[in-house]
Amino acid sequence: MSTLNHNNLSKKPVGFFDSGVGGLSVYARFRKLLPYENTLYYGDLANMPYGNKTKEELIGFARKILDFYKEKDVKAVVIACNTSSAQAYDEVKNDYEFNIYPIIQSCAKIIASMDYGKIGVFATAATVKSGVYTRELQKYNKNLKVLEIPCPNWVPIVENSRYKDASSIEDVKKQLDKMEKFSPEKIILGCTHYPYLLSLLKEFAPKELFIDPAEIFVNYIKTDLEKSCLLNSSGGQETFYVSANPESFMTHSKIFYNVNKKPICTQ
Ligand code: DGL
Repeated sequence: MSTLNHNNLSKKPVGFFDSGVGGLSVYARFRKLLPYENTLYYGDLANMPYGNKTKEELIGFARKILDFYKEKDVKAVVIACNTSSAQAYDEVKNDYEFNIYPIIQSCAKIIASMDYGKIGVFATAATVKSGVYTRELQKYNKNLKVLEIPCPNWVPIVENSRYKDASSIEDVKKQLDKMEKFSPEKIILGCTHYPYLLSLLKEFAPKELFIDPAEIFVNYIKTDLEKSCLLNSSGGQETFYVSANPESFMTHSKIFYNVNKKPICTQ
């Protein structure tokens, strides 16, 4: 491919998606690492939470967003959502010409090579049901023991900023107590909403116990875009989309990322 074609390709945007504000935990790190990329973010608030949806539903949501991004002529899409990576990625990955980066599969090799013996995973019910975390991690380290625990109440806590409610604190403590019995050396926050619960989690366990895959993920994407000569050095624009409730997105995104203009509602 000529340099001219590469230049044109590199200027195309990178699309991100998640059910809501959770994917901003990945998006914020990406913007910091690669500020000159043109980026799009899609929060699928009409279908949120993803964690209690069926595989068929999740494949449908992913296809709809990927088709939307195809129309937007993106150079890549980042699945900033563990649930969609777990349940939909395999079904859709060969149907688009742009690169698709799923959070779980992109990070598993790196986490597995860290040489831990026991890793815990907190994730949504749909992610846990898929068993993808265990499968992907053991693909690269077959002796690794993995325990996945579903935390169905955590996404609503984050989406509604209910960090200080007694019931939220109690639920976080309850899941940590369950996990403690397994004595993991590390716990993966296997849902992009969960890093926002760190201030609560660290009241009951050391902060260093937790792995937020976002950091590993964005570095992986950067290396891959670099390898394909797709890094942009002269852009930086961003646009936000939601499938419903733009006001709610604005309100609850505040502590994660400075979304400075109202998202465009696609429905
Ligand atoms: N933040 C997403 C994830 O990483 C989805 C959470 C949800 O909507 O249930 O799994």
